[in-house]
Amino acid sequence: MKNKKELPTVCVLGCGGFVGSHLVERLLDSGDYGQITGIDISDQKIRHLSGNSRFDFVKADAHSIELLRPSIEKSSTVISLVALCNPSLYTTIPLEVIDSNFTLPLEIVKLCHEYQTRLIHFSTSEVYGKTAMSLSDSSAMDEDGSIDRWVLTEDTSQLILGPVRAQRWSYACAKQLLERVIYAYGTSNSLEYTIVRPFNFIGPRMDFLPGLEGEGIPRVFACFMDALLFEKPLQLVDGGNNRRCFTYIDDAIDAVMAIIDNRESSRSQIFNIGNPDNEISIRDLASLMHQMYGEIRGKAYLRSSIGSISGKEFYGEGYDDSDRRIPDIRKAVDCLGWKPKTGLSQTIQLSMLSFIEHFKTVKNST
Ligand code: UGA
Repeated sequence: MKNKKELPTVCVLGCGGFVGSHLVERLLDSGDYGQITGIDISDQKIRHLSGNSRFDFVKADAHSIELLRPSIEKSSTVISLVALCNPSLYTTIPLEVIDSNFTLPLEIVKLCHEYQTRLIHFSTSEVYGKTAMSLSDSSAMDEDGSIDRWVLTEDTSQLILGPVRAQRWSYACAKQLLERVIYAYGTSNSLEYTIVRPFNFIGPRMDFLPGLEGEGIPRVFACFMDALLFEKPLQLVDGGNNRRCFTYIDDAIDAVMAIIDNRESSRSQIFNIGNPDNEISIRDLASLMHQMYGEIRGKAYLRSSIGSISGKEFYGEGYDDSDRRIPDIRKAVDCLGWKPKTGLSQTIQLSMLSFIEHFKTVKNST
């Protein structure tokens, strides 16, 4: 048994990504935790933390599973963020996506079980797949037009994925299977776990700007920033009718910290972490970002238009989409005392400002 009286020692797998970098920052800011271990193949987003004596960074590929063993053994909590979580990859490199979202994290689950280390595992809102409403006719809608039936609830909503040939769902299927494995370990093998389903977190250091610090197609917010900064069209995939709830990263990290700190009430739970009040269609997001960009940088910098493209052309064969994802966050509110605080326009504005500043810094240094 690990000594629970000592300050918790946390191991963040995938600490160099968007969420991981913010989480490590917050863990180090607080005096309530002991040594923080972080493992990632890249340190690009966490270089500013390298001088902190409480942070042990191991630059390694998490696939070197034996390398993870000592860190998982000595930590009281493991937070597993390792994943390829970008839709452009689901259709182009599905085997790597399944490997990084099932095969590899399965080994992490087994190690946590072996060493009786508490596991906080990052899953995805995509496990809900297509919402039932998109598959049924409008008669299923409440008469008063209420959105309640759109809201996705952790322990009761159906998880509906598309056909196998629609490889978009390779990721969601891998994530869902791993959730089922973790659940089974929890019920039959006493693994202490919590599963997080994130709903479109955005903020500083999210994804990358293609050609600057990464290659390929990032998620929508970074795609639109790329278009605005490099004066290209903001592309609406299949008309931009789908809707998302964008959640500011600071609110998301508040939730993760509440999970770490509320060990008993988060045990064996799945939590939606997202902001149900921040729903917007992708088309309206494009217009909002376009308008805000002009306000922030001045009209002279606003040289992008808003265009349209098919999902097949943008992402390739096998692309499919979730039409609407609104999180039911009542469980997180009740068990964790957590609620997101950042409204939609502030979320978009803060995220845009950080991208613009970062872009200027990178550009000036090249
Ligand atoms: C992705 C991941 O698959 C999820 O695992 C993850 O939880 C989620 O992001 C997230 O950020 O939390 P998705 O929301 O579909 O899911 O990813 P985005 O690339 O951000 O796309 C959102 C919507 O914007 C989609 O309808 C997409 O087709 C559209 N889009 C994307 C555009 O219209 N234009 C673009 O340039 C990019």
